[in-house]
Amino acid sequence: SKNTIILGIETSCDDTGCAVIDGKNSLLGESLYSQNAIHIRFGGVNPLVAHELHRENIEKAVAEALNKANKTSNEVDAIAVTTKPGLLVSLQVGVKYARYLSKKYSKPIVPIHHMEAHALVARMYYDLPFPYIVLLISGGHCLLALVKDINDFVLFGKSLDNAPGEVLDKVARRMKLKNISEYSKVSGGRAVEMAAQLSTNPGLFEFTLPLLRHRDCNFSFSGLKDALVRKLIKKEHEHNLKGDEIIPEVNDLCAGIQCAVAEHLAHRTQRALMYCEKNNLISPENRRLVVSGGVACNNFIFESIKFICNNMGYNTYRPPANVCTDNGVMIAWNGLEKVRKQCDIRSELSMQEVDPE
Ligand code: KG4
Ligand code: ZN
Repeated sequence: SKNTIILGIETSCDDTGCAVIDGKNSLLGESLYSQNAIHIRFGGVNPLVAHELHRENIEKAVAEALNKANKTSNEVDAIAVTTKPGLLVSLQVGVKYARYLSKKYSKPIVPIHHMEAHALVARMYYDLPFPYIVLLISGGHCLLALVKDINDFVLFGKSLDNAPGEVLDKVARRMKLKNISEYSKVSGGRAVEMAAQLSTNPGLFEFTLPLLRHRDCNFSFSGLKDALVRKLIKKEHEHNLKGDEIIPEVNDLCAGIQCAVAEHLAHRTQRALMYCEKNNLISPENRRLVVSGGVACNNFIFESIKFICNNMGYNTYRPPANVCTDNGVMIAWNGLEKVRKQCDIRSELSMQEVDPE
């Protein structure tokens, strides 16, 4: 039979990502236009700027992915596009362009849920039969879920306040890590990881773990952020710092917060695994956990989660780093899985289905 070709389009936040994959699970071509460097100057994603830049990049991004794949729009069998959740004005740019291509070349369109795509894309790289457990940790989300099928998820817990990446970005900013040239071009989370590696006293700052007594699988990161700011202010006063000066213990403080985030994630994950065991949700041969989202790139955090998984007889997986962060590959992959299952394939997609949630 004919090889299926899927085009994936992602514009839910600040990255314009496209990819072309085929029915043999091969990535044929991809493109990514990241707005990160621009938004850093605003201290967060600016919706107006995001909208403008997606509009500026969407045509180039699609053309580049198709060119690299050596395919034309007409050779595509279906167009998968993120419809939720995300920034409404960002989502609309991708959906509008997908609708335009769909009409022009009479191609079916497949609506994709951004989180489901994060949770499923590991299946493109590993043999991961359902069910498995997923931990999604990024700048916009934090959740633990059971993945029973491509469109069947059971949520165990989510963050009650900030996402872990959001907190790492904020504390990196507050510690002025961007003023150190090695960190000026990386994300806040990556800067914290690099600084923590240089720590000579990783136990210097102790953090109280959040929600220790809560008998559920939810997360909370805002308390850790506040605790870090208090410790930072105390040190700034002790050293009598002013303006742009950075505390001498900055590496130790990064190690402390990274360790607290890792421990909290590992602790809540352990609860979810115990819950699954108690309720027979995962049989012994299906003990698999996928970690995805931008924060999964952090090796210390990943290893901490892997450690508790190992102890409970689980294997731990994560997609390649550039597929953990927002990208078009995961959208194309989810499109391919839906085409294979013949579910959610549309001849037309209404703009009302675009949902920031
Ligand atoms: O998945 P992603 O690209 O976007 C969404 O938030 O959906 O994740 C970006 C987040 C940022 O907060 C960034 O600081 C964090 O992932 N991140 C990291 C690392 N690399 C990226 N956090 C910790 N350690 C890293 N190495
Ligand atoms: Zn994401």
